[in-house]
Amino acid sequence: MKTEIVKIDNIQQAAKQGFFDKARDILQQGGLVVFPTETVYGLGADATDAAAAAKIYAAKGRPSDNPLIVHIATPADAVLYAETSPLYWRLAERFMPGPLTVIMPVKSSIPQTVTAGLSTVALRCPSHPVARALLQAAGRPIAAPSANLSGSPSPTCAAHVIDDMSGRVDMIIDGGDCDVGVESTIVKIEADDTLTLLRPGGITLEMLEPIVGTVRIAEAVLGALPEGAIAVSPGMKYRHYAPKAPVYLLDGSSAQIVEYVKAQHGKIAVLCYEELLEEFKTFLPADRCFSFGKQTDVQHQAQQLFYLLREMDKRDFDAIYAPLPPTSGLGMALYNRMIRAAAHHIIDLKKGN
Ligand code: TXA
Ligand code: MG
Repeated sequence: MKTEIVKIDNIQQAAKQGFFDKARDILQQGGLVVFPTETVYGLGADATDAAAAAKIYAAKGRPSDNPLIVHIATPADAVLYAETSPLYWRLAERFMPGPLTVIMPVKSSIPQTVTAGLSTVALRCPSHPVARALLQAAGRPIAAPSANLSGSPSPTCAAHVIDDMSGRVDMIIDGGDCDVGVESTIVKIEADDTLTLLRPGGITLEMLEPIVGTVRIAEAVLGALPEGAIAVSPGMKYRHYAPKAPVYLLDGSSAQIVEYVKAQHGKIAVLCYEELLEEFKTFLPADRCFSFGKQTDVQHQAQQLFYLLREMDKRDFDAIYAPLPPTSGLGMALYNRMIRAAAHHIIDLKKGN
C-alpha cells in the first residue's frame, strides 16, 4: 500500500489545501489515517465500520482481544456511543477535550470489532488541534490505538510513526511532536457510578480525586498481574512499550545507581536524569548516555520516554538501565510505562542498607 505523508503546521492552510477532505474521504472509504494527538500518534479508522476497524488490528499486528479507543469530536457525542452517567459529565466538564479516556457501557452503534466483544467502550475527546479538525471533518467517531506496531513504545513524533506504519496505512498526518508523550489516562465508570483508574496518564489521580472523590486503582497499574489473572484492561498485559534490549529499573540513591551501572559489562546504555549525565559519561561512551530531563521535571521525562526508548532501540544495546521513578502525580504514568518496558525487572539497590 502506498502511504501518503502530509505535514500540517497550520490548520487553516491545511484545510484550504484540502488535506482534511482527503483524510475524510479515506476514512469514509474504510481506510486508515494516522494522526497526531496531544498524547501519542493514533492509527485511525471509522469507528462505526467493523471492516475498517479490523484493518487497524492487521496494520498493528495487534491481538483481536485488545479493544480500541473511540475518539469523539465533542464530549456531548458520547451519548451516541455509550450509556453516559452523571460522573461522565463531571469528568467531561473538567477534563475534556484532553488526555482522558472514559470507559462506559457501549451502545449498538459501535461494532464488536472495536470493543473486542466487551460490553463497554472507551471514549476520548482529544485536544490536539489537528485531531480535532480531523474529527470534525470526518463527521464520525474515529477508532484509534497508538500508531506503533504491537508491543513497541508508542510513537510521539512523525519519524517514529513512519518507521512502523509506512506501507501499512493510507495516510500519515505529521503534526510535529506530541506534548504529553504517554498515552491518555483511562478510567472506568463502574455500575455504582464510582471510578477505577486502569491506566495513568496526563490527567493524574491528584487531578481526578478533587472532582470525583476516591478513585480505585486497578491492581495492574503499579504492579505485575498475578500469574493467570485476567486484566481488566486487556492492554495491561506483561511486557509492553518495550524496546528490543532488556530494560532494568534501578531502585536506589543516585550514588547506588551510578555504582551499579559502573559494574556492568557489555554494550550497555543508561537513561538517566540530567543531573547524572556527566557522571555517567566519565565511564560510559557519551553516545550511550541518554538524559530524559531534570529529576524534578516529570513532564519532560514523560514527553521524552518513548522517544528515547525508540531511539535507543536502533542501537542494539545489550541492556538499558534506568532509574525507578516515584509514583506521585504524572510520575505514576511514567512508573506504569517503565515497569512494562522493563517487563517488571526492578533491581532493589537499597537491600541490605
Ligand atoms: O492517548 C491515547 O489513549 C492514545 C491516543 C491515540 O488516543 N491511544 C491509545 O490507544 O493509547 P491504545 O489502543 O494503544 O490503548 C488503549 C487501551 C488498551 O490498553 C485497551 O486494552 C484499553 O485501552 N481499552 C480499550 N477499550 C477498553 C474497554 N472497553 N475496557 C477496558 N479497556 C479498554
Ligand atoms: Mg498502545
